[in-house]
Amino acid sequence: MKEDQPSSTAILIALATVFISKNRSLQSLVPQDAALWCVRSLKEISPRFLTLIHLGSLPPFRWILKLAEWATIPGLPLHFILRKRQIEEFVRNNISKGHHQIIILGAGFDTLGLRLSTSFPNVSFIEIDHPSTQKQKRRIAQKYDRDNSPSFLPGDLAFENISDILSKHPSFQPAAPSTLIIEGLFMYLTEKEIDRIFRSLDGIFNSPTHIIFTMMETTPDGRSTFHHASGLVSRLLSHWREPFKSSVKRLSIENFLALHQWTLSEICDDETLRHRYLSPKGQEHLPLAKGELVIMAKKIPRR
Ligand SMILES: C[S@@+](CC[C@H](N)C(=O)[O-])C[C@H]1O[C@@H](n2cnc3c(N)ncnc32)[C@H](O)[C@@H]1O
Repeated sequence: MKEDQPSSTAILIALATVFISKNRSLQSLVPQDAALWCVRSLKEISPRFLTLIHLGSLPPFRWILKLAEWATIPGLPLHFILRKRQIEEFVRNNISKGHHQIIILGAGFDTLGLRLSTSFPNVSFIEIDHPSTQKQKRRIAQKYDRDNSPSFLPGDLAFENISDILSKHPSFQPAAPSTLIIEGLFMYLTEKEIDRIFRSLDGIFNSPTHIIFTMMETTPDGRSTFHHASGLVSRLLSHWREPFKSSVKRLSIENFLALHQWTLSEICDDETLRHRYLSPKGQEHLPLAKGELVIMAKKIPRR
């Protein structure tokens, strides 16, 4: 990430959310207040790009944004929205089953914590993010002066232990049934850093915990990228200083989790998301980025 600047890819996801919310045939996939929070964030941190998205969503100019999408990763904005829908569904389901602590790592400008903390005032939401990104998010949440904002804890997860970050926070409850969300973060960390995060999760919780995370699936020729990404994408990511550093082979996920005493529950890929969210609307033909997996696992602590 660029020193003292919010993550460019987190901004890109907020822009994609606004873009899809302006598409009549897809807008029902975006929670209304999600688009509203993304607009609020973008007005503060990237007003010029927000204007571009507003203009590019007008019918005469739509082809420009479509062209940009085709020149990079076709179906990427829709992928972001569907992965977020899937994660929100898992989280709401866990809350209905009694999870009352939701911890979001590398939250960026994602709106889940901002929105669900209002709908579920008895659930504690904690966001941990790189200080450069989180400082902006915290400022935006404070500007709208909300009673039930998530708790914002800064931390560079490439260097700091989650256990150290959480243990400093008075509202962290190790005994609360909890869900951890790590969406769109692991690809920016090395395998060693990811392993350290899993190790630092060992022993923090003494109640049932679920983890929902995303990882890039290694391409057949061994690369860590979206599977139909053009060469322009790696150039953009390195310009933003957010290159992809890791990916995983699908067959190794269960063993990796087992090493850290997690039990795999489910893996969702682009076809799962297409089947769950596009087929019921007759939109299964739409292009969807391929290569990022949404993975859910559980851990029951040993007594
Ligand atoms: C692609 S964005 C994803 C944001 C959000 N999770 C989403 O899916 O909308 C990557 C996020 O990871 C965070 N991040 C990247 N490297 C990090 C690090 N070393 N420590 C903490 N956060 C990091 C960035 O600040 C950013 O918020």
